[in-house]
Amino acid sequence: MKQISSITELRDQLRGQNRIAFVPTMGNLHAGHLSLMRIAARHGDPVVASIFVNRLQFGPNEDFDKYPRTLQDDCDALEKEHVYVAFTPTERDLYPEPQDYRVKPPDDLGSTLEGEFRPGFFEGVCTVVTKLFNCVQPKVAVFGKKDYQQLMIIRRMVSQLALPIEIIAAPTVRAEDGLALSSRNRYLSDTERAEAPFLYQLLNDLSNQVKSGRPNLGQLVQLEHRCLAQLADRGWKPDYFEVRKQHDLKRPTDENLLDQTPLVILAAAKLGQTRLIDNLEIA
Ligand code: PAJ
Repeated sequence: MKQISSITELRDQLRGQNRIAFVPTMGNLHAGHLSLMRIAARHGDPVVASIFVNRLQFGPNEDFDKYPRTLQDDCDALEKEHVYVAFTPTERDLYPEPQDYRVKPPDDLGSTLEGEFRPGFFEGVCTVVTKLFNCVQPKVAVFGKKDYQQLMIIRRMVSQLALPIEIIAAPTVRAEDGLALSSRNRYLSDTERAEAPFLYQLLNDLSNQVKSGRPNLGQLVQLEHRCLAQLADRGWKPDYFEVRKQHDLKRPTDENLLDQTPLVILAAAKLGQTRLIDNLEIA
């Protein structure tokens, strides 16, 4: 595997490749990230991964400085997955001057849910992903459903900007107790780690209630509020716990709810100092 940090060298190395499968990451790789490499290998060749902790997508009070950076271990893990190139730009490589040109998602997708609690987050994500796409020029790119809204936003960006890239969605990889794997899980204390799977349990509870009870919109709001209250009772600080339509992340109407329009429950909550997000598609 080649580890490359300069854009020019990357272009030289990838010249002539027209079936590249790309997996962008921020590093501190776990089994969830590595599953994306395997999915990428099924859809293209060679596989290129990137590791870049993108300052643009962190708010002023977020964890940019303390975000875990484990570059050598990450490269060892990527090598084992037969990744061809690990693109590991420094900030100076990717942002040699202030990144004033930005890609901003539309408000209906970018300013709701995660976007409401992390203003500017998706603009930072769309800007870096566009730039990484331009550097790597992949045929396909793989994104995890763990970050469901991010996946939907990238899908719409690629479609509206006519980028010639197929976006593949990868299922969420979980620990045995249901907790979605995340680089931020390492911030959790032992007690918090034992509590953390409760978020996924609640997603399952609500999913079962929606499937069996077929609530109307008023009843759904009550069910969502009950989830928020249960989290708060156990010491969490919830940001949102909401049922949305899968394809556009808009609120379902009574009709959609009864229609079996595919729905997804999205949740975010703080446990101690750690903010966890998760989601569950309602089949
Ligand atoms: P990061 O959080 O490192 O995630 C990189 C990719 O791994 C994303 O597509 C994410 O959805 C996926 N992923 C994370 N945990 C997963 C899990 N448990 N199961 C399956 N997939 C999982 O997402 C980002 O980085 C950044 O926003 C990025 C797209 C790289 C732009 O900076």
